[in-house]
Amino acid sequence: MTVHNIGIIMNGVTGRMGTNQHLIRSILAIREQGGVALPGGDVIMPDPILVGRQEQKLQRLAEEHGLSRWSTDLEACLADEYNVIYFDSQTTVRRAESIKQAIAAGKHIYCEKPTATDLEGSLELARIAREAGVKNGVVQDKLFLPGLLKLKRLIDSRFFGRILSVRMEFGYWVFEGDWQPGQRPSWNYRKEDGGGIIVDMFAHWRYVLDHLFGEVKAVSCLAATHVPERRDEQGQPYTCTADDSAYATFELEGGIIVQANSSWTVRVDRDDLLTITVDGVEGSAVAGLRGCKTQHRVNTPKPVWNPDIPNPHNFREQWEEVPDNQVFDNAFKFQWEMFLKHVVVDAPFPWDLLEGAKGTQLADLALQSWQERRWVDVPKLELK
Ligand SMILES: NC(=O)c1ccc[n+]([C@@H]2O[C@H](COP(=O)([O-])OP(=O)(O)OC[C@H]3O[C@@H](n4cnc5c(N)ncnc54)[C@H](O)[C@@H]3O)[C@@H](O)[C@H]2O)c1
Repeated sequence: MTVHNIGIIMNGVTGRMGTNQHLIRSILAIREQGGVALPGGDVIMPDPILVGRQEQKLQRLAEEHGLSRWSTDLEACLADEYNVIYFDSQTTVRRAESIKQAIAAGKHIYCEKPTATDLEGSLELARIAREAGVKNGVVQDKLFLPGLLKLKRLIDSRFFGRILSVRMEFGYWVFEGDWQPGQRPSWNYRKEDGGGIIVDMFAHWRYVLDHLFGEVKAVSCLAATHVPERRDEQGQPYTCTADDSAYATFELEGGIIVQANSSWTVRVDRDDLLTITVDGVEGSAVAGLRGCKTQHRVNTPKPVWNPDIPNPHNFREQWEEVPDNQVFDNAFKFQWEMFLKHVVVDAPFPWDLLEGAKGTQLADLALQSWQERRWVDVPKLELK
């Protein structure tokens, strides 16, 4: 048995996503389970080096998790041949520059979404990664959530028949920071720092829609900054310059119509922070992050509009849960394992920087639609 030790530069690892999802729940969890097993009995063992700006923070994080490798010197990490993957979960505005440096050093690239702040930047990364011949991947975690995997199961089994429409409801109340600290970083609410719910969430909606239902062909979007002022991590007031809510309609290939509300200024009265309702001729489903419930045409009740009597239906009881039937791992870890196999044994990994660029494209076009108050077509994205 050979153990393939894979040095991974983790830049931005002290952040919310870097620490929780990528370091603890993915890389450390993979190490604890004994690595990623390969068919012939070999094992891939990820070996992270924690990279950032603040020595103390990095040292503390490394010590907390029994790690010895950390550094504030990105260039030195890139120069070290032991490190074969560069991972980036810095704030979005910093990502492109660091990835370019890593590609120039011949590293394989894995990174958070959005890959850059605009389409041009995202496409440039995809292009130079291809030219350099390095493997590359972008986090598309929502595809591997149990609820969405169950939805995919329904689609693959043709449960819906012809799919007519999809409604996505995403959001929750993000505290303004005055009397309770906000539960998201303050840069999310400043456009100049790469913030905004369109830039953030439409990167997800693109791959969710493309991979589950069909390619996005057109977008119409109206957004708003409902909360004009918030307090930052130091309790200082700041002006919100980015959109905190977006109300969009998408047209997919095959004519499926999607409505998507994304908001950090709503309170939740639904089963989950994201719910996806799908209506098809043969049946309907509502997926959340973990669960998914269905109603087949043969189980569909026949409500009659009559506000003069009390509602005789308990609509929520008329749905059936899709069983797990499998063990679901953490969505980020699942994708990390596939990327590691892609790097070491060339296993397929379709979620590359070009796929990531499609997310940025949709965000850009949604912003344009909002600005120009009109429908905007989504052209096919290819690398020349
Ligand atoms: N896949 C998902 O579901 C998901 C969810 C949330 C965020 N994200 C993405 O992950 C990325 C990070 O988001 P987050 O919520 O963890 O943010 P965060 O603010 O918690 O962390 C950002 C990281 O970047 C570092 N950083 C910030 N400014 C820097 C600078 N000037 N120089 C060097 N390092 C700097 C910070 O130290 C920190 O490590 C964003 O691009 C975001 O879009 C993805």
